[in-house]
Parts: sequence; structure tokens; C-alpha cells
Amino acid sequence: MEYFVLLIVALIAAWSTVVLSRRRRGPGGKFPPGPRPLPIVGNIFQLRGDPHKSLAELAKTHGPLISLRLGTQFTVVASSPEMAAEILQKRGNAFSNRSIPAAVYIYGFDKASWNTMPADSAAWKRIRRVGREQLFSHQALQKTEGQRQETLRKLAEHVRGFSERDQVMNVGEATFTTMTDLVFSTLFSINLTDYGAADSLANKEFREHVNGFTRYIGVPNISDFYPFLAPLDLQGIRRKIGHHLRSLLGLVEGMVQRRMRQRRDSDYNKMNDFLDTLLDMAEQTHYELTIKQIIHICLDIIIAGSDTSAATTQWAMVELLLHPDKLAKLKAELKSVLGDKSIVEGSDISRLPYLQATINEVFRFHPVAPILGPREAGEDTQVNGYTIPKNAKIIINFWAITRDPNIWQNPESFEPERFLGKDINFEGQHFELIPFGSGRRICPGMPLASRVLFCMVATLCHNFDWELEGGTDTKAKLLQREDVFGLALQKKSPLKARPIKV
Ligand code: HEM
Ligand SMILES: *[C@@H]1O[C@H](CO)[C@@H](O)[C@H](O)[C@H]1NC(C)=O
Ligand SMILES: *[C@@H]1O[C@H](CO)[C@@H](O)[C@H](O)[C@H]1NC(C)=O
Ligand SMILES: *[C@@H]1O[C@H](CO)[C@@H](O)[C@H](O)[C@H]1NC(C)=O
Repeated sequence: MEYFVLLIVALIAAWSTVVLSRRRRGPGGKFPPGPRPLPIVGNIFQLRGDPHKSLAELAKTHGPLISLRLGTQFTVVASSPEMAAEILQKRGNAFSNRSIPAAVYIYGFDKASWNTMPADSAAWKRIRRVGREQLFSHQALQKTEGQRQETLRKLAEHVRGFSERDQVMNVGEATFTTMTDLVFSTLFSINLTDYGAADSLANKEFREHVNGFTRYIGVPNISDFYPFLAPLDLQGIRRKIGHHLRSLLGLVEGMVQRRMRQRRDSDYNKMNDFLDTLLDMAEQTHYELTIKQIIHICLDIIIAGSDTSAATTQWAMVELLLHPDKLAKLKAELKSVLGDKSIVEGSDISRLPYLQATINEVFRFHPVAPILGPREAGEDTQVNGYTIPKNAKIIINFWAITRDPNIWQNPESFEPERFLGKDINFEGQHFELIPFGSGRRICPGMPLASRVLFCMVATLCHNFDWELEGGTDTKAKLLQREDVFGLALQKKSPLKARPIKV
């Protein structure tokens, strides 16, 4: 099927050879080096399999800044901390627009979504400011800490049930459920989760549509390689995304409408969640937020926040269970710092250096956004002596950086110790560790994501010992580490383990 479609594309697109040969050399200098493009398809076939891995292979031959032609799409790939710093920081303004997948040009989503709005638009600047000042600031996150503590308490109870029954539990599923719940309780103060009752309706519906949406959005497709074919939507991807998007917008709109009705009651008690904060702002004038924008902000947070954080948590647990010695070290630190306190709070994190080193290493070893969020060049720009032409798609291959032996000793082994006593964090200043990106468009949810990640891993490790299903030998390691590419790099089969109450 894939080949059939490609064949049709090849025929229709015959003229694109002309475009390709015309673009070999820009007027302002030479393009970055790269593998020779074939006529019409360019380098598409060199991208087989996981894009971050095949791009890393190409970088080994052609260097840290390469250019590719994917169909008619001119693409530049940066694979070193130095090139990442050039693009995200030094020349950040030229590369601050997102490269938008063809599939999201539907229902005006491309114009309304936080992730895809142009960086010089007033709307994007407004949303960034709302996020920085009102949602993800330290004070704002303290306000919603109570909701998250409650969610973690429920998780601990859920795990305790398994340990009392001496049962193996699906840790992967529990991290996803809990993380969705953490995001939803922060946004809307609602309890989505009922671990026992998997048929909890709202949860199921949301999950289904979020999964549907993210499944189709991460993978580049024919419409992206041949933008002039995008209106035809040959693979039907935009149609499928549209279906999930409309359902999600409907669900979120329902919640917002309900809250607006509640707020009109004279005895309404403020919930102090994101939604109340946003609706408060809509009533003030200086943020100029509309209800439609609020619905989109909520949806953006659900889409960008749940799967990424959940996948990272699951990877953290996978590596800790594969390395009982590291888990023991972490547990010893938690015991000496927290004592009998069972639920970990955001404010405890700074006193837990081994936990911090562990989370850094998880971000290095399992970056869930291995190629970050692709950008687009706003104008012809010089980088490292090469010209990056206007409208080129820019990919930062963070995954290639995480596996570079010139940067990390033994990059293929999981060693939190490499970060102990080092002044490296993931907040965007150290370009060898940029799981959240960097520069103007850095992930705004980072403060929330890192809090929930720290607290959840700490809660699971502090209160329980774990026995991994399938052992920890080399073969088990390979199996446990198998992943699937999508919006977030997910574990292929969920983590299963037996909790033992301590
Ligand atoms: C482990 C968890 C997460 C990871 C690894 C992650 C990673 C990223 C990355 C790499 C980007 C692109 C940055 C760039 O272009 O430089 C991004 C953007 C974004 N993230 Fe996250 N993220 C995570 C969690 C979250 C959470 C919890 C939220 C919200 C609550 C969130 C909201 C967003 C939004 C709205 C954007 C788009 C920002 C813009 O384009 O202006 N993310 N994230
Ligand atoms: C959510 O659950 C907690 C305890 O489990 C409860 O105190 C709270 O009232 C619940 N919130 C809603 C909106 O049901
Ligand atoms: C298009 O997307 C589908 C589903 O997301 C994916 O399986 C397929 O490999 C993609 N096609 C191409 C040519 O990348
Ligand atoms: C970003 O995109 C907008 C709208 O497409 C465009 O007007 C603007 O020039 C772009 N800016 C940059 C820096 O690429």
C-alpha cells in the first residue's frame, strides 16, 4: 500500500526533479552537506524505520549539520550540542516558527494551537505569558500541589492493593492513568481515574481520542514530503486526526461550559485549578483571553502533557527495575531524607541529588521527544558557514546527542552517577541535555512535568520494593527497552512488576 501510494506520488510529482535540481545551490552560498538525493523521492528511503536513528546514522557520515530532501521538502538536521545552540539560541529568532505537519491543517487547529502558532503572533506571545506567569510559575504550581498529592496518595493505595494480594501489576498502565489524572486534576480539579473501574467513561473517551490524535501526528507522511499533494490527503490522515480533534474539543468545551455555569452560582467555591485561573483572566482585560482560546489551551496541555510525562515515568521505572543497585541507592537516599513521609512533594526535590541524577539520566537515555519539535526557517540564515534556506524544515536530533560517545562515556549504559556533582540540568542551558528543547519555544510545561515526574517516581520507589517480571539479564534489558516512535517515544510492551510493601 505504502509503495503503491509512493508510486502514484512519483508519477504525479515528476516535475519536482526540476525543483530539486534548481535548489542544489542557493544564491547566498552552499547548503549543508548530505547524502545524494534521488530524483523525485529525494532521501525519503534513507529515513526507513525510526527517523531519529536513521538520521543519527546519516550524521555519522555527513557531520553535525546535514541537509536532506524529503520529497520536495528541504530539511536540515542538527545533531550536536553546538549546532543545537546555534539554531535554538543564537539564531533562535529565525527558527522560532514550528514546522507544521500537513495533517493538522483542519478546523483551524493550526492557527489556534499553542504548539503551532507563529512565534511573532500576538496570540502566541499572550499564551506564553499566561503560561509563564499564571500556570507554570512556582506560586501557581504550589496552588495545585494539593490536587496532585491526592492523586499520588490514590496511586500508592492502588499499588498497596497489589502488594497485599502478592500480584504482578501493570506499572505502565498505572503510570499512564496516574499521569492523565495528574494533568486533569491540575487543569480541571476532576478525578478521572478509578483504577478498579477501568470503564470510567470520561477517562476512556479522553484516552481513546488523545491516543488517536497522537498516533497520527508524530509520523511524517506523504502530504509532508509533497506539500502540493496535501489538499488530497491521500492517506486519509487529516480526516482521522480531524475526527479525534473534534471529539476532544467537544469534551473540553463541555467541561469549560459546566464550569462557567458553576461560577455564576453565588455560593461558588474557587477550585484554584488552571481552568479557574484562565476564566479569571478572561474576565480581566489585560490578557484578552477568549473562551475559544481557553478551550484550545486546555486541549494543548492535555495533548502535549499526558503521554510525554507518562512515557518518561514508565522509562524511569523500567531502568530502575533493570538496575536493582541504582534502585537501592535511590531508596537509601529517599529514606534518609524523607523518613516516614510516604508522599513526596515538589519542595522535597532539591534535597534529593541522586533522584535528580536519575531523572537526568532517564531524560538522556530515553528522550520521549527524540527529535524535539521541528522548526521552520523564517529566512535564509547562515549557520556554521552554510546557508539554511527560507522555509527549510529544521530537525534537532537530540537522540543523536544522547548517544554520542564524544559527549557521554558509555552512552549505551544507564548510569545516573555520571550526573552526580556535575552542574548540568535539563532546563535548556546545557545543550547536551535538552529533552524539553531550548530558547523561545522551550516546553512551557517543563516545571509541571518535572514535578510530577520526580514525585511519582519517588512515591513508587520510597514505599515499595519491586520485582521485575522477566528478570534483568542482557536479553531482558533489550526486550524491556524496545520502543515505538510516535508523538512520544513509547515503550513497546508495558512494564509489569510485583510490588512489595516496605
Ligand atoms: C516529560 C515531559 C515532557 C517533555 C519531554 C516535553 C518536551 C517538549 C518539547 C521537546 C517541546 C518542543 C520544544 C522546542 O521546540 O524547543 C515541547 C513543547 C510544548 N510542550 Fe512539552 N514536554 C513535556 C511535558 C509537557 C507538559 C506537562 C505540558 C503542559 C502541561 C507541555 C506543554 C507543551 C506545549 C504547550 C508545547 C508547545 C510550546 C510552543 O510551541 O510554544 N509539555 N515539549
Ligand atoms: C476527588 O477525590 C477526592 C478524594 O478521593 C475527593 O476529596 C474530591 O472531592 C474528589 N473530587 C471530585 C470533584 O469528585
Ligand atoms: C504515514 O503514517 C502512518 C501512520 O501514522 C505510518 O504508519 C506510515 O509509515 C506513514 N507513511 C510514511 C510514508 O511515512
Ligand atoms: C512565522 O510565520 C508567520 C506566519 O506564517 C510569518 O508571518 C512569519 O514571518 C514567520 N516568522 C518567522 C521568524 O519565521
